[in-house]
Amino acid sequence: MSSTHKLYAYLHEEILPLESAYLHVSDLSIQRGYGIFDFFKTLNGQPLFLEEYLNRFYASALLMGLQVPLSEEELTATLTQLIQMNGLIDSGVKMILTGGYSANGYDPGPPNLIILQQPLTMPSEAQLATGIKVITHDYVRELAAAKTINYTVGIRLIQQIKAKGADDVLYHQNGVVSEFPRSNFFLVKEDGTLVTPAREILHGVTRKNVLELARKKYKVEEGTITLEDIAQAKEAFMTSTTKRILPIVEVDGKSVGNGKPGTVSLDLLQDLIALEEAQIRAL
Ligand SMILES: Cc1ncc(COP(=O)(O)O)c(C=O)c1O
Repeated sequence: MSSTHKLYAYLHEEILPLESAYLHVSDLSIQRGYGIFDFFKTLNGQPLFLEEYLNRFYASALLMGLQVPLSEEELTATLTQLIQMNGLIDSGVKMILTGGYSANGYDPGPPNLIILQQPLTMPSEAQLATGIKVITHDYVRELAAAKTINYTVGIRLIQQIKAKGADDVLYHQNGVVSEFPRSNFFLVKEDGTLVTPAREILHGVTRKNVLELARKKYKVEEGTITLEDIAQAKEAFMTSTTKRILPIVEVDGKSVGNGKPGTVSLDLLQDLIALEEAQIRAL
């Protein structure tokens, strides 16, 4: 994208130039960090798995007691118009719903719906070839099923992650693993079974797609993973909309399996790319 590419956003019931999209300081997202969001990608200008992301967006809003000001049909029409106006080929689209303008800085007002679109950054070939290193941290996200805008712990840990030469942080509570700040976690056991945590997680759209693809050729479990299980694992990877499947080769300084991206991880990545391409062709 050239630096002169003009981008549009949605705010206050209209599509307007991104540089004019201002939220008032009384918004509860600023005052108290209250709000939810969702994020999907477009490839070749087409939104992928849109219905799944919209369902999760409305479900997160409900869990937080926020009302989305547009119906699903109206929101889809707005997204289509914005995507067309922005003309980005591969992009990430973020829908944010805030606690609204608050008279006293605590009680919610009518929620503000914001839609932003930006160019997409995917993992590099080098990152896929080497895999990533992660550290662990004892924490479980509050209201884990909702995609809230609260990333306090993850963002506060960025310095620690960097200091340890790692790329991300895996949350666990008393040794029971849940997820990353922005991705889900999978592990391949010694017997080849694929396992992913079932509880205290955001139900990732990529996680769901990977589970469906994996069930066609591997034994799959949604259950409990402990830090000890990782020490015995053959492979591990994370999933998210932007990362697809990213192999994890080290956890807390210890190699996972042989310390290289695993064959099941890379095989499922190819299946996921094929699924995305099939969906684009079908649209
Ligand atoms: C806490 C958390 N877990 C998992 C995910 C991955 O979800 P998805 O595959 O739908 O991108 C995200 C996405 O941002 C997230 O914030």
